[in-house]
Amino acid sequence: MNTQTLYQKAIKFAGEKHKDQLIPGSKSNYLLHLSNVAMEILIASYNSNNFDKGFALQIALLHDILEDTDTTIKELESIFGSDVAKAVAALTINKDLPKEQQMQDSLNRIKELQLEVWAVKLADRITNLQSPPPNWNKEKRSKYLDQAKLILKELYNGNEYLANRLKEKIEEYKKYLNKITLNLSNDLKKFIEEQKWTFAKTYAKTWPHEYIVQEKVDNKKYIKLAAHIDTQGYESNFYNTKQIYYDFNGYTYWHMENIINRCVYKDTYHQREIDGRLPENYSIK
Ligand code: NI
Repeated sequence: MNTQTLYQKAIKFAGEKHKDQLIPGSKSNYLLHLSNVAMEILIASYNSNNFDKGFALQIALLHDILEDTDTTIKELESIFGSDVAKAVAALTINKDLPKEQQMQDSLNRIKELQLEVWAVKLADRITNLQSPPPNWNKEKRSKYLDQAKLILKELYNGNEYLANRLKEKIEEYKKYLNKITLNLSNDLKKFIEEQKWTFAKTYAKTWPHEYIVQEKVDNKKYIKLAAHIDTQGYESNFYNTKQIYYDFNGYTYWHMENIINRCVYKDTYHQREIDGRLPENYSIK
């Protein structure tokens, strides 16, 4: 079967099965999402070697069918063959697992299959990293972003073109975190500028950053800035620790009891993890 025929067959089937489903937070039919994922795959196919376009397009159009409709694996197998059915099964989360484990479990299963399956997962998240539904609070947006980073980390080697696209989309999505973030007041901006930030020598090679100590600065403003970071920042990881970060003017700030730290934005754990620049031989106490 040629690509166009495979595409027609899959989108017809998906269109019927998803016919009553809308994209969350919108009035658009779910086919919009499916065709966007297929579009990402089609363009990626022109930019990838040894890429089975027909196979990938079918999975792209069918990737949510087991998760969101009454379709069974058997049905998929008989209509589209066992490779497609297996791929869609791997792209489906196992709802019997605790929520925190579902994505990692699906990624593990995807990684056992053809690179086209990896590509569809990348394309799916690229498509979903658009302006979030307005009712999503900061925590939800932040979790969604962390999940995207996990997908990128796990599937990075699956498709270079799509991995780079997802990387860009992750950067773009950060704006949606900051959009609902209160800006710094002018007196806090001035406070930040006027401080003598001390370079943390012990971490010079591993985690270069600088800090101010509460006892040595204007106490009221220190408390105000710390509160601003904690309430307006976003949650991300430092190794296995959760930390609240706040980005402002090229720096990322975080707060620990009587210390406020900052480093250039590019040197945060989350950014270095994406860039593959985490320090070697470094363990936190
Ligand atoms: Ni999807």
